[in-house]
Amino acid sequence: MNREQMSRIAHARHPIKSPLDDDSVRELLAQGISQPDARVLDLGCGGGEWLLRALAASPRLRAEGVDISEDAMAQAREAAGSLGLQERLVLHHQAAADFTSAHPFDLVLSVGAAHAFGGLLPTLAAARRHLAPGGRVLVGDGFWEEEPSQEAVEMLGDFADLATTLDRVTADGWTPVHGHVSTRRERDDYEWACWGSLASWALDHPDDPDSSEVLATAATRRSEWLRSYRESFGFVCLVLRQT
Ligand SMILES: C[S@@+](CC[C@H](N)C(=O)[O-])C[C@H]1O[C@@H](n2cnc3c(N)ncnc32)[C@H](O)[C@@H]1O
Repeated sequence: MNREQMSRIAHARHPIKSPLDDDSVRELLAQGISQPDARVLDLGCGGGEWLLRALAASPRLRAEGVDISEDAMAQAREAAGSLGLQERLVLHHQAAADFTSAHPFDLVLSVGAAHAFGGLLPTLAAARRHLAPGGRVLVGDGFWEEEPSQEAVEMLGDFADLATTLDRVTADGWTPVHGHVSTRRERDDYEWACWGSLASWALDHPDDPDSSEVLATAATRRSEWLRSYRESFGFVCLVLRQT
């Protein structure tokens, strides 16, 4: 089974592909969207879940999503169609760093996709290029809650602690006007949802040729989470304005 198929199954119960619950997503969007007819861009939009929620909440809002995954784009297109939101959503299947647009955006989102740009500050630099005057950025990325093991760094990347992360963001010319640090419960719920969904799928499809591979992957990933990064990995979302 390829990575994209596996990812679709893993996120079946948690369509936001980041450790955030529905209330946190709603509040972050509310803080990021400053006008009802906002133009919103999501760089690394995955299945478009953030944009679909923003569109559903604001009938005059227009949204564009960029993602490199064909499967995620297809999922976003299908979901937008079934919710009747497709006329206000434009999807771009391409690398987010290469995306250009003739118009700027009032909100640029990028949650859990900083690896697409090479880190948090390059993500903010990309967002800045798309921002309308007075616009906001909603960015979500990891940080270390506790000193990480070497294994955790190799697995997830080299983050800073929360205070240092904020220092770097503010020194780069941004002022946080809202923020959310994922709770232990949100982080645990996300991991259980991902590896539990994979395991359930394998148990529900014992005759599928991929069943044992999927069950083994669920066990490996659950163990990596519990042994390597459950204590150290944190996740923060920031709503930013240019200082
Ligand atoms: C962890 S998911 C987050 C998806 C979404 N932002 C969310 O929170 O639900 C990361 C997404 O980044 C996308 N991605 C990775 N590299 C990319 C790139 N170079 N350009 C665009 N998207 C990319 C992946 O396909 C995936 O959909």
